[in-house]
Amino acid sequence: MVGSGGRESALCSALARDPNVNALACAPGNPGTAEIAENYPLDASDPQAVADLAEQIGADLTVIGPEVPLVAGAVDALAERGRSSFGPTAAAAQLEGSKAFAKAVMRAAGVPTARGRDHHEIPTALADLDEFGPPYVVKYDGLAAGKGVTVTSDRDAAAAAVRNALARPHDRVVIEEFLDGPEVSLFCVVSRDGSVTPLAPAQDFKRALDDDEGPNTGGMGAYTPLPWAPQGLTADVVRRIAEPTVAEMARRGTPFHGLLYIGLALTADGPKVIEFNVRFGDPETEVVLSRLESPLTDLLSGGSPTWNDAAAVTVIVAAPGYPDAPLLGGEISGLDAAAAVPGAIVFHAGTRRDPEGKLVCSGGRVLAVTGTGADLAAARECAYEAAGHIHIGGGQHFRTDIALTAARRATQEGVV
Ligand code: AMP
Ligand code: GLY
Repeated sequence: MVGSGGRESALCSALARDPNVNALACAPGNPGTAEIAENYPLDASDPQAVADLAEQIGADLTVIGPEVPLVAGAVDALAERGRSSFGPTAAAAQLEGSKAFAKAVMRAAGVPTARGRDHHEIPTALADLDEFGPPYVVKYDGLAAGKGVTVTSDRDAAAAAVRNALARPHDRVVIEEFLDGPEVSLFCVVSRDGSVTPLAPAQDFKRALDDDEGPNTGGMGAYTPLPWAPQGLTADVVRRIAEPTVAEMARRGTPFHGLLYIGLALTADGPKVIEFNVRFGDPETEVVLSRLESPLTDLLSGGSPTWNDAAAVTVIVAAPGYPDAPLLGGEISGLDAAAAVPGAIVFHAGTRRDPEGKLVCSGGRVLAVTGTGADLAAARECAYEAAGHIHIGGGQHFRTDIALTAARRATQEGVV
């Protein structure tokens, strides 16, 4: 397993309980993965280093967690050494690596998405802001850890985002229409033969503060299932979005295999793509995999998954100041008490051991505290009870409204 965040902790945890797996390594991993896997140091952004390590430890399968090694070509480097991996090649990873590329593929495949255009020049980008009108959506073209998107009704802020995105030569910015509607993340495993296996849909909370205020982040929480989602949503998205995208990538000679993450807005005109990612989402993976009953390796090789019907809610406990200027180095305590809450799982994300062995923050998103229960209300209660036990020196920050509306609605309607 390559990576070190909450997503990789959840993937390692699923692999550790998989009967097909007899040894598990995580690189670089974190103090949580060290409890269930052998951690190895690794510069995950270096494809040759990834392939060297896989060779050195004789890995039968290398699962790449984050987008950076995928876009850099880790899967290509592994393939050159004849080693098996889960994830797209660098060429196919451009679906996430370039928003303009993803738009071009969607256009060619007839996939519903926001109208948009890409720009290299400030004046034409500013003109497009006025053409699409508020709320303005400005996207930096390249990878930005979920922080390259500005959605604002303030024209000056939108113009500042344009200037910022075009600060260097060859930079590119995408201006697009605002999509109005609830967001859904749907993960699809795409096999080498092009077949698509959808996972359970989840919802992510991207903004830093309650009531969807504050800046965009990598994700502050997630839940599954979505009791409010329209019937047939998953099948519809597979047919109208995943399959045409996979077919178009094959037609271009850059076939996609691995995990296609479809970020959707459910608009009045049906589901439309907000973004593609080429790897599992974080923190959606933490909730989705907590419901997986069948072996993860079977799912990764295209087998049909089975899910339990529990609900799961993840609350990200972040360092104060995340995402703009997270305060790192604070000592973390209360993990044992949090993990002792029945149904709770505490996934490490931005943590490390200091030289004295103390657990300290090493990233903005510190822990992915996950609660499970019979329904969303129970899972939520479990997650928040567990999160309440966590303390970080210098303070901690989490949203208090993850899954709140969905849990209330499910309780009122008597559905789970
Ligand atoms: P992205 O990195 O493209 O997923 O964008 C991050 C977040 O910005 C999304 O999850 C949405 O909340 C928001 N967003 C991006 N594009 C749009 C859009 N066209 N309309 C509305 N919100 C958007
Ligand atoms: N949770 C959003 C992402 O993984 O991109």
